[in-house]
Amino acid sequence: MNKKFKKGTVCVQGGWAPKNGEPRVLPIYQSTTFKYDSSEHMARLFDLEDAGYFYTRLQNPTNDAVAAKIAELEGGVAAMLTSSGQAANFYAVFNICEAGDHMVCSSTIYGGTFNLFGVTLKKLGIDVTFVDADANEEEISKAFRPNTKALFGETMSNPGMNVLDIEKFARIAHNHGVPLIVDNTFATPINCRPFEWGADIVTHSTTKYMDGHATCVGGAIVDSGNFDWEAHADKFPGLTQPDESYHGLAYSKKFGKLAYITKATAQLMRDLGSIQSPQNAFLLNLGLETLHLRMRQHCKNAQAVAEYLEANDKVAWINYPGLKSSKYYDLAQKYMPEGTCGVIAFGLKGSREEAIHFMDSLKMICIVTHVADARTCVLHPASHTHRQLSDEQLIAAGVAPDLIRLSVGIEDAEDIIADIEQAINA
Ligand SMILES: Cc1ncc(COP(=O)(O)O)c(C=O)c1O
Repeated sequence: MNKKFKKGTVCVQGGWAPKNGEPRVLPIYQSTTFKYDSSEHMARLFDLEDAGYFYTRLQNPTNDAVAAKIAELEGGVAAMLTSSGQAANFYAVFNICEAGDHMVCSSTIYGGTFNLFGVTLKKLGIDVTFVDADANEEEISKAFRPNTKALFGETMSNPGMNVLDIEKFARIAHNHGVPLIVDNTFATPINCRPFEWGADIVTHSTTKYMDGHATCVGGAIVDSGNFDWEAHADKFPGLTQPDESYHGLAYSKKFGKLAYITKATAQLMRDLGSIQSPQNAFLLNLGLETLHLRMRQHCKNAQAVAEYLEANDKVAWINYPGLKSSKYYDLAQKYMPEGTCGVIAFGLKGSREEAIHFMDSLKMICIVTHVADARTCVLHPASHTHRQLSDEQLIAAGVAPDLIRLSVGIEDAEDIIADIEQAINA
């Protein structure tokens, strides 16, 4: 789509530009396979000599239209949809790391990603060092090794709501000749575009605000096209050296700025699967059409709820980056001046049981294993999403044992506050 359009227009119209007589609405290409007139043409597709569809495990036109919209929203050159946010983060890293490699990662990240990196990647021979993202550049740089291939962080951490200093992280990554990967799930490109601050690759759990209605698990990887793989060719042989499974083709030489996403599609999707279903991509696209409107309402409601909680004497502490009292207020103002998101982290006075009792007393707001959709919901990470972590790991991940994660939806703020108030008083 034309670069002059603003984000709201891209949300509504990006990715799909029908030709004369074609459907106005993005169709669901519910087909595993695609027909060609000659065997030779199909052979060229298998050799990556021609662009085109041949099997939905690698690519599908519905997915590609939605990926193009997300790439445009983020200001990237290309994107790929995955079956989940977990798959997106795994592929984003595995596309440039292999056994014997190392990655540096903020310790304040989503618990599932923490397990993926700290436990499962380790089994694949990829070592990850977790660092305090608030530490200074010198301190974080100490974690780097000669075999380090990437730096990773979340724009706003789930569930602690710590805001990442993206420029600082980008500087550290680039000083070590590696790309910065940022999980931008909570901010969405409506509120923050990490590429504008130096990030190289962005990932999403599209399950969250992008879908927005809690209907489809999904993920996305977006490449800025800015990282110069050739300048660090020895670090990234998978991108710069011949791929024997494609007759010795080298992605960086053949595809230039599209090398990273082409490799992820042609090699990782081919071998590992985890594509998003076209049906889910269609529903994701419906969500994206209203993302800009919903994010505004999430932020407005969350600000009102956060101010209410801050003033309530039964609340022990609160972290919402839109509050001046938040340690992350200044970073939020810098990176997300129009609003952060709808997620609030807070704790009640009293014991950990107080949190459970509060949650059980809510009436309209539901306890669900989810965050960042239209309906206000609540979760106690220490008992649910992060229950695999020890108390020390919880604290290192920015998750106080009493932390309640409140995901403020787009209902009327008065009703959300009224439900919270009756539950606190219970
Ligand atoms: C920031 C973040 N990244 C990644 C994920 C994983 O995404 P999914 O649940 O779609 O696999 C989540 C899930 O909560 C998340 O919050």
